[in-house]
Amino acid sequence: MSLYSLVKGRRGESGFGYASTAEEVTNGLDLKGKTILITGVNSGLGQESARVLSMRGARIVAAARSREKAAEACRGFSGDSIPVACELSDPASVRACVATVKELGIPLDVLLCNAGIMALPNRELCHGQEMQFFTNHVGHFILVTGLLDQLSDTARVVILSSGAHTMAPSAGIQFDDLTFNTGYKPWVAYGQSKLANLLFARSLARRFAGTGRTANAVHPGVIATNLGRHMGLVARIVSPIASAVAMKNVHEGAATQCYVASHPSLAGVSGEYFADCNVAKSSRHSQDAAMGDRLWKVTEEIVAKL
Ligand SMILES: NC(=O)c1ccc[n+]([C@@H]2O[C@H](COP(=O)([O-])OP(=O)(O)OC[C@H]3O[C@@H](n4cnc5c(N)ncnc54)[C@H](OP(=O)(O)O)[C@@H]3O)[C@@H](O)[C@H]2O)c1
Repeated sequence: MSLYSLVKGRRGESGFGYASTAEEVTNGLDLKGKTILITGVNSGLGQESARVLSMRGARIVAAARSREKAAEACRGFSGDSIPVACELSDPASVRACVATVKELGIPLDVLLCNAGIMALPNRELCHGQEMQFFTNHVGHFILVTGLLDQLSDTARVVILSSGAHTMAPSAGIQFDDLTFNTGYKPWVAYGQSKLANLLFARSLARRFAGTGRTANAVHPGVIATNLGRHMGLVARIVSPIASAVAMKNVHEGAATQCYVASHPSLAGVSGEYFADCNVAKSSRHSQDAAMGDRLWKVTEEIVAKL
């Protein structure tokens, strides 16, 4: 038996593990009456999460860069779904999404911040900010803070981070050069954006303390999805081989976020980082509440100028 198959078969305290699938972790759950907003529903983990949570009875508010993409994705979900446009790099689009969801007047039981981009080869700016930081963190910050009043009393905010949050700059969030004006490195910038996702989840959890609402962050594993589109040619050639041998498939990849979004055993569990459907260790910086508070304030200042 290979080391890999040993890892695959291992299960944690939750009873689930590396090889659990989104269908397995939601098996037997009745999510009828629940409304779940998911960003990035047209691809990869977001699409699989929406498919499975819809299959379990949840109504999906399906967000993609355009309403057309969202509507196309909705055709693959078995239950009730509402397509909405949410281009995270465009504050006007995110704010319009917030307005649309508020107009629906339906309380949200889960807000699954899933969409993201990874390892842009060259430094790109978006509204004066580094593109991955803006898309992965600032866009979701506008969405979540805009929808706080729309959350149900026991709502769960689930934010996709990544094991790559450990690749952030050695100081953590690089407040003195947030945009990598000097020394841009694709994985460090992605790492900073994913550390921001994790710090944001924990900051939200602190704000939710004493309520029934929760906020948690997720590392889904390593899965060959469209996320790798910016990687070099060699990586794209190697990826399908690596995927067959050692990566999770998309059904396994969507398991942790579906588990955190819906499993009854996690009612009231907040401020945690999950991997392989279990609470996991995260970096020292990700546990730094002062860094999280500063990030919140800096993000508010960025958003106020948009
Ligand atoms: N796959 C992995 O190995 C892995 C590992 C760790 C963490 N993650 C995280 O998991 C999440 C989902 O990734 P995935 O693997 O499912 O990737 P994916 O297949 O590329 O899906 C990403 C989704 O995000 C959307 N998106 C990208 N930029 C956007 C923007 N500006 N506005 C709105 N939506 C945007 C994409 O829309 P388009 O298709 O229209 O571009 C797509 O729907 C990401 O947050 C990622 O960081 C993934």
